[in-house]
Amino acid sequence: FAGQGGRGPSLGFAAIPTSSADAVVVPEGYRVQAMIPWGTSLTEGTPDFATDNDADDQAHQVGSHHDGMHFFPLDGRSDEGLLVLNHEYIEPRFMHAAAAGLALDSGGFPERPDGSRDADQVRRELHAHGVSIVHLRRGDDGQWRLVKDAQSRRVTGLTPMRLAGPVAGSEHVITQYSPDGSMTRGTLNNCANGVTPWGTYMASEENWAGYFANRAETIDRRQARYGITSRDTSRYQWHKAAGGADEFLRFDATPRGGSAAEDYRNEPHAFGYMVEIDPFDAEAAPIKRTHLGRFAHEGVVFAPAVEGEPVVCYSGDDARFEYIYKFVSARPYRAATADGSLLDEGTLYAAKFHADGSGEWLALAPGENGLTPENGFQDLADILVNARSAADTAGATKMDRPEWGAVDPASGQVYFTLTNNTRREPGQEDAANPRANNTFGHIIRWREQGGQDATRFQWEIFLLAGDRDSGRDANGAPLGDDAILASPDGLWMDAERRLWIQTDISESVMNDGIYEVFGNNQMLVANPESGELKRFLTGPIGQEITGVTMTPDRRTLFVNVQHPGATTEASAFAAGDYASHWPDGGDAIPRSATLAISREDGGIVGA
Ligand code: FEO
Ligand code: CA
Ligand code: CA
Ligand code: CA
Repeated sequence: FAGQGGRGPSLGFAAIPTSSADAVVVPEGYRVQAMIPWGTSLTEGTPDFATDNDADDQAHQVGSHHDGMHFFPLDGRSDEGLLVLNHEYIEPRFMHAAAAGLALDSGGFPERPDGSRDADQVRRELHAHGVSIVHLRRGDDGQWRLVKDAQSRRVTGLTPMRLAGPVAGSEHVITQYSPDGSMTRGTLNNCANGVTPWGTYMASEENWAGYFANRAETIDRRQARYGITSRDTSRYQWHKAAGGADEFLRFDATPRGGSAAEDYRNEPHAFGYMVEIDPFDAEAAPIKRTHLGRFAHEGVVFAPAVEGEPVVCYSGDDARFEYIYKFVSARPYRAATADGSLLDEGTLYAAKFHADGSGEWLALAPGENGLTPENGFQDLADILVNARSAADTAGATKMDRPEWGAVDPASGQVYFTLTNNTRREPGQEDAANPRANNTFGHIIRWREQGGQDATRFQWEIFLLAGDRDSGRDANGAPLGDDAILASPDGLWMDAERRLWIQTDISESVMNDGIYEVFGNNQMLVANPESGELKRFLTGPIGQEITGVTMTPDRRTLFVNVQHPGATTEASAFAAGDYASHWPDGGDAIPRSATLAISREDGGIVGA
């Protein structure tokens, strides 16, 4: 069922080789501008990046660890718009160590004798998470520049947010902060994104579980199934901030007796959602859309909306042996009135891939697929908060870390990256996850049988990532030097149906052993009809390439470079001996940043 027929889009550039240089490389005839690195001031009168920035500075600066993003044009223009981008996480060692000249403890934090954390450092870290809305304009010289007006702003780990959909107001999310369960504070670990048919931005909440401590001996399944274990520690130890402010203590979910409205036991239940942000309304609170399920949301991708038909979107849960989900709205799409409330009523499904190339969507709804009170699912809110457990009960297919999805704008065909899964043992293979010890990952695609809201589909493997021995393209042919890749993660299909593929080989293994041949993380582009695959970009040392969007005229491609220099050895920090100095060069601290890529001849990028 290879697609629409025809030859598909041209890939007219000369592929580039792999690279291990501390540089961004693009094909001949292309130029690249690195811009809005972490710490760029968005507001007149606030400082740009400096190693001794404080929490208040960071509140008005671009966050760290750029990830999913989208360009929202102003008045349809291709030279001015709002670039909205996620900031997935931070590295305290880069944020604080250089400035303070302090020794780092085993967590990478500046050491404090009593084990507490500095409150201003913690607040700065929360401000470096979240989302940036950046007003950009391209000058006559072709350079993109930040416009410091009220449209450039931040959403952070401290911004008040609304909860909407079936979980809102339920017992699961009653907290001291919001006794009626209608609100929560902040969004965290925003990885990939989505764009709704009505022109709003969706930020995902991926590895939020790591931010919470819980000292209880027995951990509730609403937390245990997501990786919260009995512990007094967490990724950044925010709950140990000196001074005991409520906004930090909430990261310790230990029940303290009394009611849920008196402590923080339910705080983790307000994370794990897709968060809707209206980039054009600075006054509107972001909204967590709970009917899309609670899990390690990599992102969300919408099928093209059709007047009078339901809204359909797809989401991956990026953890080993987790699931791919689909949401179908109850109400039909009407362009004149469509808004985010369409995401509050409908049906969440999980995918089951059969060995014969067929597949089905299993409804995660009360009374369906074993989701009954007898089996421990009281109602719809309970199912959505426990989406992983619900999909377990329904019998969905356990995947090799579902990351980004893409929908073909012409055919509605859906693609998903499965980045890797080295814990799949021999004997655990299935047709959709065909490799034990899946070190390099793959890409799957399917076509719904009927409308986009169908409950049956036909699927196939589009790409087995790998080196020249193990990689296979859509035709089953080995990958050549221009096409080898590992750990596909970011994925996006542009309006001319070029499939952009970004890689995220972990910094713990990149440029080493079986991964050495791939060099630094990179971006490739595929023709969905022919399976042709060519390398388009390679990034600097220690980073991953993630996040991709274009201007409407397709003459500027935006791509993010996340965590350059993450391969720096712990012992090298005190001396500032970073593995990368990108993008500033010299002795500079490495910083995540956005690339604006265009052709010297002004043509369409990738064509
Ligand atoms: Fe944040 Fe699954 O990558
Ligand atoms: Ca990442
Ligand atoms: Ca990712
Ligand atoms: Ca990844």
